[in-house]
Amino acid sequence: MNAQDIIALKERGLAEAAQAATLAEIEAVRVKYMGRKGLLQDVMDGLKSVPPEERRDFGRAANELKQELTALLDGRKATLSAAGKAAGRKQFDVSLPGAWRGLGTRHPVTQVIEETIRIFSMLGFTVADGPDIETEYHNFDALNTPADHPSRDTQDTFWLDGTTLLRTQTSPVQIRVMERCKPPVRIIAPGRCYRRDTTDATHSANFHQVEGLYVDRKVSMADLKGDITFFAREMMGPDVKVRFRPHFFPFTEPSVEYDFSCHVCGGSGCRVCKHSGWIEISGAGMVNPKVFNIVGYDPEACTGYAFGMGLERIAMIKYGIEDIRLLYDNDVRFLGQFS
Ligand code: DAH
Repeated sequence: MNAQDIIALKERGLAEAAQAATLAEIEAVRVKYMGRKGLLQDVMDGLKSVPPEERRDFGRAANELKQELTALLDGRKATLSAAGKAAGRKQFDVSLPGAWRGLGTRHPVTQVIEETIRIFSMLGFTVADGPDIETEYHNFDALNTPADHPSRDTQDTFWLDGTTLLRTQTSPVQIRVMERCKPPVRIIAPGRCYRRDTTDATHSANFHQVEGLYVDRKVSMADLKGDITFFAREMMGPDVKVRFRPHFFPFTEPSVEYDFSCHVCGGSGCRVCKHSGWIEISGAGMVNPKVFNIVGYDPEACTGYAFGMGLERIAMIKYGIEDIRLLYDNDVRFLGQFS
């Protein structure tokens, strides 16, 4: 091989480089001519047998092959990747950190529901469920609240037709459970409720309650007080006190309302508890024998207690939330603070 052969080889290399249409083809030409086992290396391996007077030309031709081919290949590479970028082809940088999709957090009301289930399951309660679309019978009549009963007025609601409505309370689940199961029963039923309330800082037309029902032989008011107090301490902390006041509900007799001592001032009186030291929580009582008769339980053989609590209220007290609407604005910056 002499200098002329090397120049011919260079011309072939340059022609192939000019035709290479992809980055992979460019790389293949480079490897073919200038790789460790490429054609240029073969040329250099033959240098020993070249007569000394020809070596200068031989060396120069080999150098030119390397320089010119490298320059052309680099140029082709730059043109091709610029065209790729212009065409919008993605250029990946595998060393960049991935796109971070933040983990969600549980809604404060969901957290309170889960905590309520945890606490009552320690007392042997299981979770029951009922439909959001209820019959008038289950939501009112079977709960000893006939059509002309004044306590219906406070729960004027969303009727779907003459006999079905969006439930105003979780209490109808009591009826459904007693229709289905013989005593003893011990259930809680968390869920959504609906009332045609005007929304303000403490009212929402859509809210949540948890219902509780415990029926067996000889269940007494002492069981109700003990279990509610246990719940209060688990949910709010060991120092909370509970007080029960006489009240009226059609489906319990006697009925009570109960309050927790104010979590902010501990009972000495502050703005949050309106200086009374107490925060009103919910209603409860001993199941009215009329309700037992309606569902076919024998009021001589069994007794029971029931309660119903607003869960937004518990969440607002527990987390110090002052406006119920914040729970439903769906602002993750707000909701993410309570996980
Ligand atoms: N359902 C009642 C309400 O929404 C709360 C309630 C009171 C439920 C007493 C009960 C109960 O089970 O015994 O105001």
